[in-house]
Amino acid sequence: MMAKIVCVLAVIFLHLCCGIATQRIYHGNEAMQGEIKTVMDYGAVGDGSQDDSKAFKKAWEAACISSSDGEMVVPSGSKFLINPTTFPGPCKSPVSVKIEGEIIAPAHQSAWNNADRKMWLTFANISALTIQGGGTIDGQGQVWWEKSCRINEKNPCTRAPTAMYIGNCTDVLIRDIHFLNSQQIHLGIFYSSDVQVTGLLIRAPEDSPNTDGIHLESVENVQIDNCDIETGDDCISITAMTSDVRIQKIRCGPGHGISIGSLGEHGEESNVEKIDVREVVFDGSQNGARIKTWQGGSGYAREITFADLTINNVSNPIVIDQYYCDSSKTCKIQKSAVQIESVTYQNITGTSAQQMAVNFNCSQTVPCKEIMISNVDIKSTVASQTKSACFNAFGLAYGNVYPNSCLKKQ
Ligand SMILES: *[C@@H]1O[C@H](CO)[C@@H](O)[C@H](O)[C@H]1NC(C)=O
Ligand SMILES: *[C@@H]1O[C@H](CO)[C@@H](O)[C@H](O)[C@H]1NC(C)=O
Ligand SMILES: *[C@@H]1O[C@H](CO)[C@@H](O)[C@H](O)[C@H]1NC(C)=O
Ligand SMILES: *[C@@H]1O[C@H](CO)[C@@H](O)[C@H](O)[C@H]1NC(C)=O
Ligand SMILES: *[C@@H]1O[C@H](CO)[C@@H](O)[C@H](O)[C@H]1NC(C)=O
Repeated sequence: MMAKIVCVLAVIFLHLCCGIATQRIYHGNEAMQGEIKTVMDYGAVGDGSQDDSKAFKKAWEAACISSSDGEMVVPSGSKFLINPTTFPGPCKSPVSVKIEGEIIAPAHQSAWNNADRKMWLTFANISALTIQGGGTIDGQGQVWWEKSCRINEKNPCTRAPTAMYIGNCTDVLIRDIHFLNSQQIHLGIFYSSDVQVTGLLIRAPEDSPNTDGIHLESVENVQIDNCDIETGDDCISITAMTSDVRIQKIRCGPGHGISIGSLGEHGEESNVEKIDVREVVFDGSQNGARIKTWQGGSGYAREITFADLTINNVSNPIVIDQYYCDSSKTCKIQKSAVQIESVTYQNITGTSAQQMAVNFNCSQTVPCKEIMISNVDIKSTVASQTKSACFNAFGLAYGNVYPNSCLKKQ
């Protein structure tokens, strides 16, 4: 009894003055009691060739029904081949997925014969989910890229899987994961809220089709920071019904930049607002700060800020394109469009790989309004001067703006 009290007091003391030390003590206890189980305890082999999907499912189920914080551990030093798999909620308590090893996708499309081709690793209907651990998720996307219509026009344009698909989740943290060669989108977050993404490293070749780094679709309250992204498509894309997104401290390139859109395809309504993008370095990316909408849509994209950007040899550093049209299609002039309104560009410096550095190409029926541009200085790597172009673009310029602003006063 006495020993127990002393022990409790000691733990409280340690907790008060050195949090890390007590964490280590707890960790040690758990290990001694054999409480930390990994996917190996559920039958995973981890040799990179045997299918470990069933073991992962079992490990997930155990974590998900656990009444105290559930944990699913993918240990380091092993490679796990996982077929398209869904990890569904709701769970009894917060769940943490610790990926320390490597997870690889099947390198053949037939693995999706009986699965939804939109996703590979799906987390759905979960509240309080953490995915972390410093491990790698390799989509082995080459087999999908070869069959893309972007690579060969004769191929049908079908969707390829999103490597990590987060759907209908709330309170999500994704931290310190390395994404490699996804089939299409690397990390896709759909119909979710209260999401934090930090410390991701994302790598796919510059010529890999549609390999967006992080894609947001109909999400609310998202923070993305400290990510390093090199891909064949958008580093980050923001679409559909999305609001309250803060993006900070990102390196992007090669890739297609940070893109709001495309919005309003097939006449859809899209409402995107309260997006803040700052402290981004674009290295040789196709675009920097981009907003793109299709003709014929409706809704709005508003209260958007791009600030403190560094642009290194970017083809289209600042661009609004309301005539966006996939190269595989032809797009006719249409009456309606998504309204672009209240967009601020502030403190943007560096170089453009073309003479045109700022291009606001807005809709004829719903012109862009309240565009604000201040302290912008973009030189060119190919010409002695840079240029800006405005079509139906209204707003104001403050401070030093080069190339000179062409915005019209309202
Ligand atoms: C998530 O919940 C929705 C309905 O609430 C359901 O339609 C869907 O199938 C669920 N997803 C999974 C993977 O269980
Ligand atoms: C999310 O919920 C919607 C509607 O309830 C459902 O149709 C969809 O399948 C769910 N998504 C996932 C990945 O379960
Ligand atoms: C402008 O942006 C750069 C790059 O992020 C940053 O270092 C600098 O402090 C910013 N300047 C101001 C005045 O905010
Ligand atoms: C700038 O980018 C273009 C391709 O967009 C490339 O050909 C050129 O070498 C780059 N220049 C510098 C100075 O990096
Ligand atoms: C604006 O978009 C139209 C339609 O795609 C295109 O023809 C035009 O060249 C664009 N303007 C600029 C300056 O890029």
